[in-house]
Amino acid sequence: MNDKQLTGEVYYPSKDVIKHANAKCEKLYEEAEKNLEGFWEKEAKNLKWFKKWNKVLDDSEKPFYKWFVGGKTNIAYNCLDVHVETYRRNKLALIWEGEKGEFRSFSYFALRREVCRFSNILKSLGVKKGDRVTLYMGRIPELMIGMLACARIGAIHSVVYGGFSVEALHERLEDSQSKVLIVADGSYQRGKIVQLKQIADEALQRAATVESVLVVKRTGEDVYMEPGRDMWYHELMNLPIANNSCSVEQVDAEDPLFILYTSGTTGKPKAILHTHGGYMVGTYTTLKYVFDIHEDDRFWCAADPGWITGHSYIVYGPLLNGATSFMYEGAPTHPYPNRWWQMIEKYGINILYTAPTAIRGLMRYGEAWPNRHDLSSLRLLGSVGEPINPEAWKWYYRVIGKENCPIMDTWWQTETGMFMITPLPCTPLKPGSGTKPFPGLKMDIVDEDGKPVKTNEEGYLVIKTPWPAMMRTIYNDPDRYVQQYWSRFPGMYMTGDSAKRDEDGYYWIIGRVDDVIKVSGYRLGTAEIESALVSHPSIAEAAAIGLPHDVKGNAIHAFVILRVGYEKSDKLIEELRQHVGHEMGPIAKPEHIDFVDSLPKTRSGKIMRRVLKARALGLDPGNISTLEE
Ligand code: WTA
Repeated sequence: MNDKQLTGEVYYPSKDVIKHANAKCEKLYEEAEKNLEGFWEKEAKNLKWFKKWNKVLDDSEKPFYKWFVGGKTNIAYNCLDVHVETYRRNKLALIWEGEKGEFRSFSYFALRREVCRFSNILKSLGVKKGDRVTLYMGRIPELMIGMLACARIGAIHSVVYGGFSVEALHERLEDSQSKVLIVADGSYQRGKIVQLKQIADEALQRAATVESVLVVKRTGEDVYMEPGRDMWYHELMNLPIANNSCSVEQVDAEDPLFILYTSGTTGKPKAILHTHGGYMVGTYTTLKYVFDIHEDDRFWCAADPGWITGHSYIVYGPLLNGATSFMYEGAPTHPYPNRWWQMIEKYGINILYTAPTAIRGLMRYGEAWPNRHDLSSLRLLGSVGEPINPEAWKWYYRVIGKENCPIMDTWWQTETGMFMITPLPCTPLKPGSGTKPFPGLKMDIVDEDGKPVKTNEEGYLVIKTPWPAMMRTIYNDPDRYVQQYWSRFPGMYMTGDSAKRDEDGYYWIIGRVDDVIKVSGYRLGTAEIESALVSHPSIAEAAAIGLPHDVKGNAIHAFVILRVGYEKSDKLIEELRQHVGHEMGPIAKPEHIDFVDSLPKTRSGKIMRRVLKARALGLDPGNISTLEE
């Protein structure tokens, strides 16, 4: 790969980086190319199975693929017990810093103990294999403990991002039919307290299936505790029943591990389902090769465990690799814009994985802040969530990585569970491109008819081979799974993104082609924002679109039609923004709201957001032949 002359601006990895890398580049691509199943089988053998699989890949019921069929394992066992039985017993599994500067750490031994104790509590509350448990809190160790405790006993966790609010939580509790909710009393965000328990109480008024609510004390503020339903986590953990050992549920490889809600093309968020076996092999392998995990690494994925990035690469991937995962509770710029750089220096972080929006946000404060700190522990950097603009890439490379740290720009999705388009440390990089599909994966860019487009032409990004960490279905809605991902182009997985591929085979992601808006890397659906707006008494109809924003990538612009009897005003705009914040969460608050008399619609009544977007950007709206009279 190195000897070929590549086009454009290329950054080659140093000899040291290549020498250090777990992945011997060409060899890995070759091996996987030659024998995809053999490649994944070899990786699976690095993990512990109670019973070996009979078949690596079962594609007899496409698109319901199965991996490691017949195998029995448990991802939480592989994250903890496996290491506790080795020299890693006393190694740190998790280092945590709170926004106010508090510090906590857990060795593998200690983390397993806490997980076991909490597993016993869940069992005593009647949580059984297959039951759903919702977790709703900030970035605190109890979130990781809760997820692993569910996994240990075979329960299905459903983490709801702590930045979501009443309606978003209510919808997810109801759809998942959760038996237990684990919630924090509150969380810290930029020095302020978010009253999570209060939000949960409101959501719970309409969520009939929740029998028990376990409350983690984080802020210590007074909260309402409903008798017979609400219990303090720390009190339960002190009961004799919270025994230090708890047997592991030996689950089937294909048994569900978690559901995670994400926004799609239309309607309600969908519950993406991942399993113990394939997801475990996928996250373990991708993290090992892409971020080149070594024994003494401290890996910091600065995402939130409430999103897939945190699931795969704060919790599961690092622990499966026996690495030390670092978790920080708060905002990057609190109390000063050097907070992140200070922590990298303090803890000796080796790998930082974050989103372009965070980089752009930090860039605004200038180089002096990072330059005050010794960042020489860093070896690799990463980016995820949206396309990274070359300017931000170069700043990250030069100012943070000191031109020594390759940037792994990883493209993937909640649905894919693991990195899909990504460099390896030895890959020559082009700023703004995620380079190539992970070894063994076949991806393509196709036109309306599913035919591959030409070099440098834009088209739909599709995936043509199955991979172990792929979603298995939409929980409770298998038809929607088939329809949404596998119907547009038969035999291919439709990602919902558009992309180009250059003469070197490098992929360049352009953005979503559906009704998903990526705001600061967070994935939101137009439908959810619109339904939050319409739930306000003054609004008859609403349309939301994403428009380019310097820091956030995209910002939400909403167009609303007032009900008769209501008047336009700045006060109403503010009230609507607050309302969306209350229903959905602060990230969904529209940047701009315009009052309009009508919305462009197709003859069948679908809002043509494309037309609104073109209009707002002063562009040609393209084909509008389906536009209503
Ligand atoms: C976008 C996040 C460009 C893309 C892991 C995808 C990216 C969506 C990248 C999934 C990247 C993610 N470059 N775009 N490196 N990574 N995306 O489910 O549009 O929250 O479809 O998963 O984020 O978002 P999700």
